[in-house]
Parts: sequence; structure tokens; C-alpha cells
Amino acid sequence: MLVTILPFFLAANVTIDDQQSKWAMYGPECTYDVLVNMSLANIVHENDNFCSMIATELKCRPKGQDTLNCRFQNSRIKRPDSKDSRCSNARDFVPTRYKFVGEEPFEIRFNPRGIENLIVHRSIPRWRLDMIKVIVSQLNIGFEMEVQESRNRFTIMENSTMGHCEVDIKITRGDSNFEEDDDFAEKSDNFEIEYLSSDEFGRSVVERLRVEKARQPKRCPRRIIYFFGNHEDYSRDKAREFYMDMTTSTSLITISKDKFVSYTVSEGVMKTANKSRIMRPHQNISLKLKQIDFAKSLMPEVQDPASTSLFAFSNLEVIPEEMKNSSY
Ligand SMILES: *[C@@H]1O[C@H](CO)[C@@H](O)[C@H](O)[C@H]1NC(C)=O
Ligand SMILES: *[C@@H]1O[C@H](CO)[C@@H](O)[C@H](O)[C@H]1NC(C)=O
Ligand SMILES: *[C@@H]1O[C@H](CO)[C@@H](O)[C@H](O)[C@H]1NC(C)=O
Ligand SMILES: *[C@@H]1O[C@H](CO)[C@@H](O)[C@H](O)[C@H]1NC(C)=O
Repeated sequence: MLVTILPFFLAANVTIDDQQSKWAMYGPECTYDVLVNMSLANIVHENDNFCSMIATELKCRPKGQDTLNCRFQNSRIKRPDSKDSRCSNARDFVPTRYKFVGEEPFEIRFNPRGIENLIVHRSIPRWRLDMIKVIVSQLNIGFEMEVQESRNRFTIMENSTMGHCEVDIKITRGDSNFEEDDDFAEKSDNFEIEYLSSDEFGRSVVERLRVEKARQPKRCPRRIIYFFGNHEDYSRDKAREFYMDMTTSTSLITISKDKFVSYTVSEGVMKTANKSRIMRPHQNISLKLKQIDFAKSLMPEVQDPASTSLFAFSNLEVIPEEMKNSSY
């Protein structure tokens, strides 16, 4: 069975076991492992370095030709590596189970270049929505692969959480010399990843594809680094006292016939308004395809839907006036 992974671009040919009726009932579902790894280093006080790691699963089901219906599950905060001397908070860390992104369904609508917009519940809190955007951005290719087929280096404009940015792209195809990252990519033997082509007979297995995207902060109008946090860290009053500037942001997407991994490493500078604290945020958000199996319930609907772009800190397209003033 052919399962869409990224509309207009990738599908997986899945070997279906004997439970065929279950696949037929609710359709397929892709599960991604998501890892958000971040640290906030105080430039002045070396011992004041905060690290945290959040793990969650993203589950997506294809809906029609251009949409994925997704939700998060099993979110948890993980203990930072206690051996990492850069993390001064590692020793007295208390693990918690924390529903940081929530488990409500949302939808990602694609166009041939990548993500067009998101459909979310109209009253989703802004901080939660921004976290979702940063994670699902890992599914955004940003350009039409078929159009760029023969080019290895070029520059595009891309919409991401950081705004409308100029991005330098480097593509490596079918090259066995590039770094083996098999240690962190799950391999699967029940699916084989293929290019989805508009021409049904033009499908082909992905040998190896590596897309490197380097955002140019100076050519990025807003340069805002969205640093993952909870609503207490970035509640509206506090957020105004922070100034965050992105310095680098690089993404790497690696696809082969049995794996799909995408991650973005971003760095920046964060200052309080009176510059009493200068911190260096470092953030690595990774997403890797873990498994494709059958969904176990009806596809959930997004209640009271509103659409929004990938830009962080942006408003929802339709948002009732009373929401804007309520506390979130
Ligand atoms: C996560 O962050 C820690 C501390 O910065 C680092 O030692 C570790 O290698 C990171 N892991 C990943 C997968 O990025
Ligand atoms: C970026 O978003 C703007 C406004 O939503 C849209 O007009 C434009 O086409 C988008 N550009 C890309 C490259 O997706
Ligand atoms: C700077 O602002 C922070 C809160 O934003 C405050 O806690 C601190 O005392 C201020 N420092 C100075 C030197 O004014
Ligand atoms: C980011 O995460 C990916 C996947 O977990 C890992 O391979 C990579 O080394 C990490 N990069 C940095 C700079 O932490």
C-alpha cells in the first residue's frame, strides 16, 4: 500500500501484514520521534546554564491529496545529561510528565513546495501553537524538488517560524560518502520510501537525498529565534522584556529508502531589556520517522478551525476579539 508521507513529494510503500482489515478501516498513520534539545547559556555567569530536553511523538495521517491530520502523543521532559558540565541544572532535575504541546488534532496543508499553512483549533494558546509550528517546520522542504532536480546549490525564499527568509540550499544525492547517521535513525523493513510524482509511473525509490538549509539571519527580515519554552517562561509580560535575535539556523533533511530524518539547529542571543542578563540559546529540534502502521480510531476533526501561517508569533487568521485579551 502506498502511504503519503509528505504530500506532493514523498510516499512509503508499506508491506501490509495479515491485519489488512484494520488498515482498511481507519487508514495508515506515520509516527515520528521528536526530540527538542536546548540550552540557555549565560555568557557572564558560566555556571548559570539551563538545559532541557523534551521528547514527544508526532502522529500524522494523510487526508486527501494535500493534507496531513496530526497530533502529538507521549510528551515528556527528559533529564539533561548529568555528565554534561554545560548543564548546571542537570543535578537537581525533577522529571515530569508535561502536556506541553497538547494532544488536540491539527492539520498541515501542503503545496508542491512544502507547508502552505496549518489548521488549528481557534482558541489554541499562542505559546502552544508556536511550539507546534517549530516542530512541524521540520516537514517543510521549502522548494519544489522536481523543479530543482538537476541543481545542487541554490537560494530560495522560505517561510518558516523565523519569517520570510533567504535560505541557501545544498543538495547531495545518492552519495555514499556522506556521514552515516544510522545510529540515530531507525531503519524499518516494512516500508520503502519513494518519490511521489504527479506522473504515476514516474515513481522511484529514494536512494539517498540530503538537503542542507542554511538560513541567513541578515537576509531574514525578522531574525527572531523562537526559543522553545513553556508559557511561564514566555508569558506575555515577561516576553516583552526579552529580546531574542537569531544568529544561525541550519536544517538538515536526510531521506533514503528506509529513513526520513529532519532537524534544525538554531542559535541566537537573548537579552533582557536592561541587558542585565545575556544568554545564548541553542536549540536542536529533530524529527525522525519511526514507524508506519494502521490508525486505531477515526480521524479526529479539528473543532472550530482557524488557519495560520508557519510564522511564529503570528495571529490566527480568524480570531475572536475576546481571545486577544484573555490570558493564555
Ligand atoms: C543534547 O544536548 C546536550 C547538551 O547540550 C548534548 O550534549 C547532546 O549531544 C545533545 N543531543 C542531541 C541529540 O542533540
Ligand atoms: C510566504 O507567505 C506569504 C504570506 O503568507 C505568501 O504570500 C508567500 O507566497 C509565501 N512564500 C513562500 C515561499 O511560501
Ligand atoms: C533588569 O531587569 C530585571 C527584570 O527584567 C530585573 O530583575 C533586574 O533587577 C534589572 N536589573 C537592573 C540592573 O536594573
Ligand atoms: C541535532 O540532533 C540530531 C538528531 O538528534 C543530531 O544528529 C545532531 O548531531 C544534533 N546537532 C547538534 C548540533 O546538536
